[in-house]
Amino acid sequence: MFIDTHCHLSKEYYADIFQVLKENKEADVDTIIISGCDKESIKESLEYINDYSFVYATIGYHPSEVLKVSDADLEKLKKDLLNKKVVGVGEIGLDYHYGKEDRDKQIILFEKQLKIAEDLKKPVVIHSRDATKDTIDCLKKYKVTGIIHCYSGSLETAQEYIKLGYSFGIGGVITFKNSRLSEVVSKIPLDRIVLETDSPYLTPHPYRGEINSSKYLVYVAEKIAECKNISLEEVGKVTTENAKNIFRIS
Ligand code: NI
Repeated sequence: MFIDTHCHLSKEYYADIFQVLKENKEADVDTIIISGCDKESIKESLEYINDYSFVYATIGYHPSEVLKVSDADLEKLKKDLLNKKVVGVGEIGLDYHYGKEDRDKQIILFEKQLKIAEDLKKPVVIHSRDATKDTIDCLKKYKVTGIIHCYSGSLETAQEYIKLGYSFGIGGVITFKNSRLSEVVSKIPLDRIVLETDSPYLTPHPYRGEINSSKYLVYVAEKIAECKNISLEEVGKVTTENAKNIFRIS
């Protein structure tokens, strides 16, 4: 019933990948999309999409990789993006949470990857932290759309992204006790929402603190159902359709 549109599946976090995928299936998560966002995890995600039919990947360099990525790496990325099971570019974006020293370099890396997505006509998965204005300025320059990953901003910002054609990845944060995200999500149209865990991070309540996995996606879906006053099945059906449309998965 569900698609986890964003998770970090890696041996770094899980002792037994096969067991994790088995548990995900048992929890009604039929399809997962891994986010490969540095050299190592890109390589690993390309292996898993080869091994498992229901696993897809998005690949792209996270802003935290800004000092490590060469032009040769971006050429390699372009080639890897031609794989049919690589369904998008990301997560890419801007992150000023720890400071703005690398701001200019981050913007250059971000725009180079937006251009790649535009040329290859692939959707993008955007990581934006404490950088809304610059993110929007960059997105406006390229003919791309996709997902604002782990969205937790205001309704006003959401409306700006909607105007640009973007949808929102909603994850465990919506279940956190002092989160105001459910109020915002209740006002975002359901056809602009996809589910994600961002596992192993951001584990939903009541498992907060444990290592996250796609099997906990249902807690995110339940919370969305509650704040929109619709059934869990409806949330599953619509968000799955949305994800399939955005990533062109049949
Ligand atoms: Ni992520």
